[in-house]
Amino acid sequence: MNLYDRIPNNVNLSEDKKLQRALEKWLPNFLDWWREMGPEGFQEKDVWLRTAIDVGSEGWAHFDYVKMPEYRWGIFLEPPQPDAKVGFGDNYGRPVYQEVPGEFRNALRRIIVTQGDTEPASVEQQRQLGKTCPSLYDLRNLFQVNVEEGRHLWAMVYLLHGYFGRDGRDEADALLERRSGNPDKPRILEAFNQPCDDWLNFFAFTMFTDRDGKYQLSALAESGFEPLARTCQFMLTEEAHHMFVGDTGLGRVVRRTAQLMKQGDVRELGGIPLEIVQKYINFWFSYSLDLFGGEISSNSADFFAAGLKGRYKEREQYTDHLATNETFTMTIVEDGQLKTRDVPLRNSLNELLRGEYVKDCEKGLARWNKVLNDEGASERLYLPNPRFHRHVGEYAGHTFDLQGNLTSREEFEARKSEWLPTMEDREYVRSLMHPVYEPGKIANWIAPPAAGIKGKPFEFEYVKL
Ligand SMILES: [Fe+2]
Ligand SMILES: [Fe+2]
Repeated sequence: MNLYDRIPNNVNLSEDKKLQRALEKWLPNFLDWWREMGPEGFQEKDVWLRTAIDVGSEGWAHFDYVKMPEYRWGIFLEPPQPDAKVGFGDNYGRPVYQEVPGEFRNALRRIIVTQGDTEPASVEQQRQLGKTCPSLYDLRNLFQVNVEEGRHLWAMVYLLHGYFGRDGRDEADALLERRSGNPDKPRILEAFNQPCDDWLNFFAFTMFTDRDGKYQLSALAESGFEPLARTCQFMLTEEAHHMFVGDTGLGRVVRRTAQLMKQGDVRELGGIPLEIVQKYINFWFSYSLDLFGGEISSNSADFFAAGLKGRYKEREQYTDHLATNETFTMTIVEDGQLKTRDVPLRNSLNELLRGEYVKDCEKGLARWNKVLNDEGASERLYLPNPRFHRHVGEYAGHTFDLQGNLTSREEFEARKSEWLPTMEDREYVRSLMHPVYEPGKIANWIAPPAAGIKGKPFEFEYVKL
């Protein structure tokens, strides 16, 4: 098999023997990891998957039946812009960096490792879900997300191998050694150690946690370190589908629940009550907010100054790319009270990015509430206040209600079962999860999608079992 068939790429891999050797050594370890930790029970099945075989508009979305271990994970970067310049920070307007700036080597490696770690982690979290899929359409979407997260791991490993030498290679090996939820060698970020063992979790995860990924990747796609920027730009094209799966998945659950509400008791009819959907939203939204890091952050200021991590749509949305004079008004906890404080803008960039994310999530909520409205239900879903249930940053260590008011720990504990999924809620949701493998059929707790994939009908045999 020639190199391009083994590792499809647009980075001239055949001309970089050192990089080629490193990746070829890593490839069998990746495949071992995939067989051990990838989707359980479906490795030999034909799945109708989208494969990126090129970055052009024709090549990046090639659809065909593929067995997952034979999926062509590859390395694709958005084509370079001629004369690209650093778009923000202290080096604004200088040529982009083709190598890692020395003083930021460790910090940048950490960013890439942390991003890279989330990719295999989510595959591990989701590996049992195929056994309880609500339809073949959903099963195919799950596997599409899984193989693309695998490719995102490749993208980050390419950067580690290509730009960080020996310690980059060690980090690339470690990415295959940590395991989601394993107490001895957990994944780096907490949201990626949470179990994702039912489909309501899966939809909430792809809606809220993959969406964090979109914002992190968008900020890195602005980077003055050009290989990173181009890698992230291409990953974003795939990430859009993951969020589509979550957004429409939850929308279909909401639709089915609203339909059952008209017929009687949702539980008795085998649906998922809206209160439970709301608790799952509260859980995954709050954990995903943590992924943006501390509200006030000197790291964010350093990365921005160095031109490594920008703001969301930095080039499009802003005219002042230095951000040296402005401040940002932050709500903080001081002496047991909420107070406001003005913080230099560069130290507030995590919070700024989080704010963009929250706005995006609100659009999802508006779509689901429209579904409720269309089905004649008066109930509405909402996002909890971003201070609620936080484990990272200014609000960690304090307790808040869903509206963001400070509460005592006793009150939080007493009301927790109204706000977050209980063991009983999780068991109830799990009790509904029985696989539906017949083409065109769907589980009772979810509505069918509005359309199939790439012009195929919902009844299409998306996975050959
Ligand atoms: Fe990803
Ligand atoms: Fe994703």
